[in-house]
Amino acid sequence: MDWEAAKMMCSLQFWRMAVYWTLALVYSRLYLLLLPYLSNRFPSLFRPPPPPFSRRRFSPGHQCPVRRPICVVTGATSGLGKAAARALAAEGYHVLLASRSPQALNKAVWEIKKHDPNAYVEAFQLDISSMHSIMKFECNLKQWLQDANLHPSVQLLINNAGILAKSSRVTADGFDEMIETNYLGAFFLTNILLPLLKNSPVPSRIVNVTSFTHRCVSHVDQNKGILARENFHVFSSKNLYAFITVCTLLFSYELHRQLYAMDSASVVSVMAADPGFVETNIMRELPPSLRKLAFMVLGFLHLLQSPEIGVGSIIDAALASPEASGKYFYGAKGRTIKSSPVSYDAKLSKELWLCSYELLQECKSRIVNLSKLD
Ligand SMILES: NC(=O)c1ccc[n+]([C@@H]2O[C@H](COP(=O)([O-])OP(=O)(O)OC[C@H]3O[C@@H](n4cnc5c(N)ncnc54)[C@H](OP(=O)(O)O)[C@@H]3O)[C@@H](O)[C@H]2O)c1
Repeated sequence: MDWEAAKMMCSLQFWRMAVYWTLALVYSRLYLLLLPYLSNRFPSLFRPPPPPFSRRRFSPGHQCPVRRPICVVTGATSGLGKAAARALAAEGYHVLLASRSPQALNKAVWEIKKHDPNAYVEAFQLDISSMHSIMKFECNLKQWLQDANLHPSVQLLINNAGILAKSSRVTADGFDEMIETNYLGAFFLTNILLPLLKNSPVPSRIVNVTSFTHRCVSHVDQNKGILARENFHVFSSKNLYAFITVCTLLFSYELHRQLYAMDSASVVSVMAADPGFVETNIMRELPPSLRKLAFMVLGFLHLLQSPEIGVGSIIDAALASPEASGKYFYGAKGRTIKSSPVSYDAKLSKELWLCSYELLQECKSRIVNLSKLD
């Protein structure tokens, strides 16, 4: 074992995180396994689990201007994003893989095409931790739709890109890198693509990928200013990854409320999906020996899944009927469960929305002003 791994393993913070995350994962699994039994046995104490949602294949009517639905997957060059892109291409989607590295994008497109030569896949460069890149992506996407003579709309957005950063780093927009990659960037991209999603002549969808780790955040103390905008720049929370996954849920439920409050027959639905613990490159910043140890222990506990299995909840959320909007998909087979109580706090999600929206407007106008100067 290397020195870095040994140092990490000696810290209290590491063990606290490892124990909390494992307990959160075990809790979600037990909830899924025991709820049907408990609700049968003690009907007055436990509500029966909701019926699973079945997957629906896209079938356009004769008059529909969309022949093949367009799907954007962020972070599609590795792990869950790549598995989602492959599965959705097999479902008949025209999948736009959006990621940072052109080499990784070309490789991912080649791999999907090798597996299925008839797959419709395109590569788009996008750094979700940069507002400039998000705005450029929007322009490129609109141009591509026009050049390809396709309907100017998007049917599915999967906000999947994410990192597990070992230390705090600041992006060009001035935010903490993990916050902007995992939450703020998804918020910005969603708002920027919302007109294209709303313009869809068939029901469209946003799927936000989150994690069981959100259960480690039992409350968000607004009095201490946790949601204060300064915290998006340099965040000092010891449990930042888990905190960000709560933000993703608050954002998903708030967007669902806003879309459905405006119009109960809203064309855009919003789902959250939790893949469980999956063997991907998410822990790439941790020492390799520690990664191996985590995979070994969770594999031994039967809590580790391959990306092809873990992606099940994301694909369920992407293909469920629009009535599933506002639900939290977990455990595949179309199943949904309740996320933590704090994630349903409507006041908190409103506050987070307002703060994130202010940051979006500021970032956008800064980029527009800069491009005027060029
Ligand atoms: N693995 C798990 O157990 C697990 C559990 C729950 C939730 N999740 C969530 O699932 C999502 C996917 O993670 P994964 O496990 O599949 O990890 P992964 O294998 O590391 O894939 C992450 C993807 O995100 C991309 N990405 C990172 N930063 C980006 C940026 N700034 N702009 C655009 N793309 C960026 C990566 O591309 P590069 O190659 O360019 O870095 C990569 O394609 C994450 O949001 C993660 O938090 C994972």
